[in-house]
Amino acid sequence: MRVAMIGTGYVGLVSGACFADFGHVVTCIDKDPSKIARLEQGEIPIFEPGLDDLVETNVREGRLSFTLDGADAIRKADAVFIAVGTPSRRGDGHADLSYVYAAAEEIASLIEGFTVVVTKSTVPVGTGDEVEAIIRKTNPNADFAVVSNPEFLREGAAIGDFKRPDRVVIGVNDMKGDVGTRASTVMSELYRPLNLNESPLLFVNRRTSELIKYAANAFLAMKITFINEMADLCEAVGADVQQVARGIGLDKRIGSKFLHAGPGYGGSCFPKDTIALVRTAQQHGAPTRLIETTVEVNDSRKKAMAGRVEKTLGTSVANKTIGLLGLTFKPNTDDMRDAPSLDIAPALIAAGARVQAFDPEGMHEAAKLLDGVEMKSDAYEAVLGADAVVIVTEWDRFRALDLDRVKLLMKQPVMIDLRNIYRPEDMRAKGFRYSGIGRG
Ligand code: UDX
Repeated sequence: MRVAMIGTGYVGLVSGACFADFGHVVTCIDKDPSKIARLEQGEIPIFEPGLDDLVETNVREGRLSFTLDGADAIRKADAVFIAVGTPSRRGDGHADLSYVYAAAEEIASLIEGFTVVVTKSTVPVGTGDEVEAIIRKTNPNADFAVVSNPEFLREGAAIGDFKRPDRVVIGVNDMKGDVGTRASTVMSELYRPLNLNESPLLFVNRRTSELIKYAANAFLAMKITFINEMADLCEAVGADVQQVARGIGLDKRIGSKFLHAGPGYGGSCFPKDTIALVRTAQQHGAPTRLIETTVEVNDSRKKAMAGRVEKTLGTSVANKTIGLLGLTFKPNTDDMRDAPSLDIAPALIAAGARVQAFDPEGMHEAAKLLDGVEMKSDAYEAVLGADAVVIVTEWDRFRALDLDRVKLLMKQPVMIDLRNIYRPEDMRAKGFRYSGIGRG
């Protein structure tokens, strides 16, 4: 199959490289000349484990290419994917669909032969209808179908998620009709290698598919927020949230994943998608109050995290030096979008602290966003002379710190572990004043 992928951001690049690895011929298209130039040189603009090798192999073997001018690739494509950004619109939190609609217009005039236009970007319910209308209006004779195929890729684990998904959701209208049947055949063929993994392809109508994506992310965000509130309750009553999570997670109806208490969820999806779902639901007169509350609780949680430093120190952070370990919203990514560190560091600085930090991949991005934070070149430098160290992101290398060395380097051994990577009893035995999340 021939695939044109419009947008080489995170989702477009990972999906394009993985489809090429499935044996399809993929052209990734982007309007940003410097991005395309870098990709052509084999430089990957994001940090994602395994992606550089995957891109290199598939480019070398002639299945993957990058271009600024996608006209030819779109004309020849069996499937054109729209994988452009859908940021939160400033002011109202609705998803900004201008890039999606611009892509639809671009595709419309280029369609030759039967073409499946697939929305991969996360788009509100009904966007597929609008994309279809735009194409129909621009090119009334085009032979095409618009399909929704949301992504469920976790940063840092995206290639595994693409190649071994729990499910692939495919939204096709009028599945039994001629166009619907042809579109379903193209989609099944694109994902055929997944038959080997027995990953089910779930065919539903287009609006259902669009909603599944938001519902999944909202549910996960709610699950995290639930355990975060349980963590606060554990602290109040002297219980242990990790054991609570295990105790409830073993119930198969609940499941053990996404029950790690922490500083609140961040990233490119949960914050944006929960707000967009809330707005869509309000607009349709069917408010999702659980999700409205989830958004509020998570926002205030992130803001409250700096206060935990003062609580553990037992005094104000004014004129204290605080070392932050980890800045990205989660490990194995350089993504800083809506990271808890963006609330924590400014709050500490506003309270008069001197903040120094280290992150294995996120420093470059973080330096642009975190005014006044001194970036250090490793974890030990970040704890040097510190009155307290805060584990903000659970990078593996922070699990393997030489704690005796950390203790010697710090002004006083105080650790606030917002990811519960250490055991309280071990830390106390090492002489640290230690606080985790939800552990008594
Ligand atoms: C998420 C979804 O998982 C993915 O399916 C979707 O398509 C895109 O959004 P991602 O944002 O990359 O992926 O990361 P994820 O691993 O889901 O973590 C999101 C946030 O939740 C992070 O800030 C993480 O630290 C936090 N989290 C996650 C918790 O606090 N506790 C958990 O148990 C899990």
